[in-house]
Amino acid sequence: MIIPGSGSQALAADLAAILDEDLAPVEYERFPDGEVMARIGDVSPDRAVVVASTPTSDSHLELLQLQDAAREAGANDIVTVLPYMGYARQDKVFKPGEPISSRAVARAISANTDHVITVNPHERAVCDFFEPSAIALDAASVLADPLPHDLVEPLFLAPDDGAIDIAQTVRDTYGTGETDYFEKTRLSGSEVEISPSDAAVAGRDVVVVDDIVATGSTMSESIAVLNERDAARVYVACVHPLLAQNAVTKLARAGVERVIGTDTLERPVSQVSVAKVVAEEL
Ligand code: R5P
Repeated sequence: MIIPGSGSQALAADLAAILDEDLAPVEYERFPDGEVMARIGDVSPDRAVVVASTPTSDSHLELLQLQDAAREAGANDIVTVLPYMGYARQDKVFKPGEPISSRAVARAISANTDHVITVNPHERAVCDFFEPSAIALDAASVLADPLPHDLVEPLFLAPDDGAIDIAQTVRDTYGTGETDYFEKTRLSGSEVEISPSDAAVAGRDVVVVDDIVATGSTMSESIAVLNERDAARVYVACVHPLLAQNAVTKLARAGVERVIGTDTLERPVSQVSVAKVVAEEL
């Protein structure tokens, strides 16, 4: 049985269809004091697959409730699918006194599950924070499909060296083009500085590929550099289109041709699904 979190309903429905599994009749409520309540309905799954992205604190709470309800309903085997794992980027202590937030949430999620599946977490090592077995799937290949077939001398560009692998995956799936990467220095939560490489981009179509677009600063700064160097069309492709705050406006003002994201987070730009990649693991 597939048990969807409120923010992963479309992906969970796709998974249920692909796997020919039942979809639990989950209901989501909020009490007057702000607390969340997720009910999985009158079901008795032997194996429960909870599919829930966790971009917010409430979605973490909702996930814990869904796992607990599944166990309470008699599930012997609970698989937790985290299409987008929130707090994953705080994976070490950057300044004294800080928590390792990804470890803290991983431990909480581990309390009521037998296996965890993540999709392109910021660092694969985050899987080590879970106590049952946990794996990281790479869904970047699905980002190639919506790209136009007529890209001119395409360059698949990572905005920093951490995204090189997924830029290469998208290039390989697209079938042609070069890859390169910029250097990024983060100045604050919403400010970055991009140091370009010497790649020749004039007149070429560029696809900037990253695991996540959060505030859009990384992408808009990268696009600005590409525009200064007379790139032709600039596409943005990311696995997790978080698009916080004014990210959509930043990208539009920067002159992006199109933003392509997956359904790990259900947004207007979520044009491709990771369902098949996840289904193969279930
Ligand atoms: C960090 O290195 C990630 O790969 C992304 O580049 C980053 O999280 C994007 O954040 P933002 O959109 O806020 O610049």
